[in-house]
Amino acid sequence: TLIPTILCGGAGSRLWPVSREQHPKPFIRLADGKSLLQKAFLRSFKLPDVTEILTVTNRDLFFKTKDELREVNSRKLPASFMLEPFGRNTAAAVACAALQVRQRHGDDAVLLVLAADHLIANQKAFATAVARAVELAADGLLVTFGIHPDSPETGYGYIEADGHRVLRFVEKPSQDTARDYLASGRFLWNSGMFCFRTGTLIDEMNAHSPEVIQAVEHCLAASQQVGGQDVLQLELDAERFAVVPDISIDYALMEKSSRVAVVPCDIGWSDIGSWTALGALVPPDEDGNCIESEVMLHDVSNCYIKSEERLVGAVGIDNLVIIDTSDALLVASKDRVQDVKRIYAGLKEQG
Ligand code: GDD
Ligand code: MG
Repeated sequence: TLIPTILCGGAGSRLWPVSREQHPKPFIRLADGKSLLQKAFLRSFKLPDVTEILTVTNRDLFFKTKDELREVNSRKLPASFMLEPFGRNTAAAVACAALQVRQRHGDDAVLLVLAADHLIANQKAFATAVARAVELAADGLLVTFGIHPDSPETGYGYIEADGHRVLRFVEKPSQDTARDYLASGRFLWNSGMFCFRTGTLIDEMNAHSPEVIQAVEHCLAASQQVGGQDVLQLELDAERFAVVPDISIDYALMEKSSRVAVVPCDIGWSDIGSWTALGALVPPDEDGNCIESEVMLHDVSNCYIKSEERLVGAVGIDNLVIIDTSDALLVASKDRVQDVKRIYAGLKEQG
């Protein structure tokens, strides 16, 4: 059994003001009318041998997520949901999925963990990479998918490998370290997708982050099935989920385990992590501007401008991102788009 498991959480705070708590990044629709989340579902359905799909998401996003799924689930694959009362990061979400699937399908069931906010242009190459990953997973490895890096991004995990075996996994290195890794030519980016047997994941978590897996196990024991009994819709117990450590799977496990493998792949992957990544999907004009709104520009270059309603006028600017929505306007230097999350955090603090 291969079960695609879609993680749909995370506020996408670097895409403020379009991405919000109640309208997070996976629900952002692209030019073709499909959301990032729908693209993740479609990517899963097209894989061979998939008979079920599992989504881990916030309970407040449940109906919204089901609607997105219904629009694209033409094969009517059974869909299970695990519903979080609040985000406890990806180690918790992955542990929930692994423990639940093991209960239903045993230690040898293989999970393919996918993010709800990626784009993969080459489905065929993706399917080939998944097939290879499933083989390595069957050998008891925690498989990552490696992307050839082209810039010293600090928002990604870096993987140093010898063949398939991972020598080092470093999550979100500093700028200088990322530059060294890129220059060395020996590192791949971690794509944020994973493939493993439920048994392997649970054993490795027991070895390297027992606090997480034990807290999640304790939580599942008190969690409730909601809705009908035909498909799994499990609402996680809030009191017990609250004490699960808030840590990503990258820090909790991938940096620590010696059973990590990588499948290098060339699948047209992009992480829609920041405004420059979204801007890059829009073909630039002759001045390097990517425009998704009505504009009047004079001496403007290398800017990304997106406005929901209003016309944007700009004069004499270079290398900026301008995002206008009905109630908030973002103006940021392209070199600082990673820090847009600080605006989001600041607003959250103010309440
Ligand atoms: N259900 C659930 N609950 N999903 C979550 C939660 C949570 O609490 N937190 C994050 N997610 C989902 C996000 O929606 C996204 O689809 C995925 O898990 C990864 O989370 P991000 O917050 O986007 O992680 P990241 O971008 O900082 O880093 C990860 O992805 C990079 C590539 O995109 C890491 O795996 C990096 O190593 C990797 O390079
Ligand atoms: Mg991300």
